[in-house]
Amino acid sequence: MAEHEIPERLRWAVEQLAIEPDARVLEIGCGTGVALGLVCEYLSTGHILGIDRSAVAIDRARTRNAAHIAEGMAGLWLGDLKDFASDAGAFDRVFAVNVNVFWTGPARAELQRLFELTKPGGVVLLVYEAPDARKAERIANDLHEKLTAQGFLTTSSKGPSPKLVGITALHPPAGPPRPTGSRGRPPSRAM
Ligand SMILES: C[S@@+](CC[C@H](N)C(=O)[O-])C[C@H]1O[C@@H](n2cnc3c(N)ncnc32)[C@H](O)[C@@H]1O
Repeated sequence: MAEHEIPERLRWAVEQLAIEPDARVLEIGCGTGVALGLVCEYLSTGHILGIDRSAVAIDRARTRNAAHIAEGMAGLWLGDLKDFASDAGAFDRVFAVNVNVFWTGPARAELQRLFELTKPGGVVLLVYEAPDARKAERIANDLHEKLTAQGFLTTSSKGPSPKLVGITALHPPAGPPRPTGSRGRPPSRAM
């Protein structure tokens, strides 16, 4: 795909991710792997895994990104997010563009997976290109509610076109460790 043919939503989504060269990135619903290829431009020692439940999409993504896969920078997995097994907190960045499952229903299992897969301090980004600006806003509000209920801290940003919206969800960083010995010890009595 020529540079000027890359859809604006994908270019904008990848820019929002602020990817560090050593980042571990997961893309859900990677389709034919266009955004996956863009992410590779930011990586050096990092890695991106693209998952998609469509075998046709995964095949196309594999062909498009053959060089990145051969050098070990990118990988692909065929299947549904609900069935994707990985260590908790394995990813610094998790993103999805135009993947409807997160807002067409309660998506409890999928949203819980997002929280589990992202490391504390890591970020999930869900981007939608809606048919119009009102729908984009409705979807953003719906996602704020669901992601907040899941434990994320969310902010939304408007894309270069009013139909484009991104919801950024921070998995809160782990708090400071408790002082040693403070847990379970009975309060000291005044003498
Ligand atoms: C509308 S396409 C978007 C593709 C690409 N992200 C883009 O914006 O061009 C949605 C993709 O997400 C995949 N998908 C939808 N729900 C999924 C799920 N629960 N798990 C894995 N892939 C999913 C579909 O197979 C499809 O390839």
